[in-house]
Amino acid sequence: LWNPKNIIADSIERVREQVGDDEVILGLSGGVDSSVVAALLHEAIGDQLTCVFVDTGLLRLNEGDQVMDTFAEHMGVKVIRVNASERYFSALEGVTDPEAKRKIIGNLFIEIFDEESAKLTSAKWLAQGTIYPDVIESAGSKTGKAHVIKSHHNVGGLPDDMKLELVEPLRELFKDEVRAIGVELGLPRKMVFRHPFPGPGLGVRILGEVKEEYADLLRQADHIFMEELDRHDLYDKTSQAFAVFLPVKSVGVMGDGRRYDWVIALRAVETIDFMTARWARLPYEFLELMSLRIINEVDGISRVTYDISGKPPATIEWE
Ligand code: XMP
Repeated sequence: LWNPKNIIADSIERVREQVGDDEVILGLSGGVDSSVVAALLHEAIGDQLTCVFVDTGLLRLNEGDQVMDTFAEHMGVKVIRVNASERYFSALEGVTDPEAKRKIIGNLFIEIFDEESAKLTSAKWLAQGTIYPDVIESAGSKTGKAHVIKSHHNVGGLPDDMKLELVEPLRELFKDEVRAIGVELGLPRKMVFRHPFPGPGLGVRILGEVKEEYADLLRQADHIFMEELDRHDLYDKTSQAFAVFLPVKSVGVMGDGRRYDWVIALRAVETIDFMTARWARLPYEFLELMSLRIINEVDGISRVTYDISGKPPATIEWE
């Protein structure tokens, strides 16, 4: 019988057999797949696992702390947190093209991960959160390697001189199975049922040039949106929802004063496969609350808009 308990027991046995007494390293992103791998490997091999969490400066509010809290504090997983935000912001300075930004962000991730793993000289294995749909996807790609440091990070693979073997315990599982074993392993529901978050993070939700100041404003607005979706029981009814920073200024009034500040767009979609999507019909009262809270609470934002574009013809992300 295939249930979460059996899948876990079976995976644990296979991982133990595969890696023996060797050390394993895993890039933890805070997303569902790498989180489940971390929890599973921790069960299977305990301290033989070391996770590397790269804080790019392009994550959501408190995300780094939450990852450390869940894995390091509560579960006792070894996690190395790398604060790389300054490197990211300086690498992205003056870059406006979305694909160029993706490349820079993806390559920098590889570079940093490589530096960290070079320090862990005893590591023999690289664990990855590859799931079955990733395997199918990369089978169709030219290199067949797209799943290495997942397609998520938009890079083709690891440097050739990285002599690590792959351990991919979720390779045969679909997303709903991954979620089910995540719950069974005791991960917080919030983490397991999270909306997808793109590898380049806020880097593609700040249109054009990425600046730390913009990322800070976007994080605050996005957090308010998530908090209220949750509170109104709307989070699970949307497939993906987020805020986008528009680098244009708009006039507003506040008390007796005039404001001339930035604009935030809110995006929420319903979809099965993310190939096509319908914009979520969020209640007007909810949208009104969003604009009030964001404009009142985020100093630097003077206007909030709601994206009513479907996919196609638009995409889900703005870049
Ligand atoms: P689009 O914008 O193409 O998004 O309609 C479809 C889904 O893919 C996600 N997405 C990405 N994920 N790296 C990722 O890992 C990326 O560069 C990227 N671009 C889009 C997007 O969030 C949505 O879930």
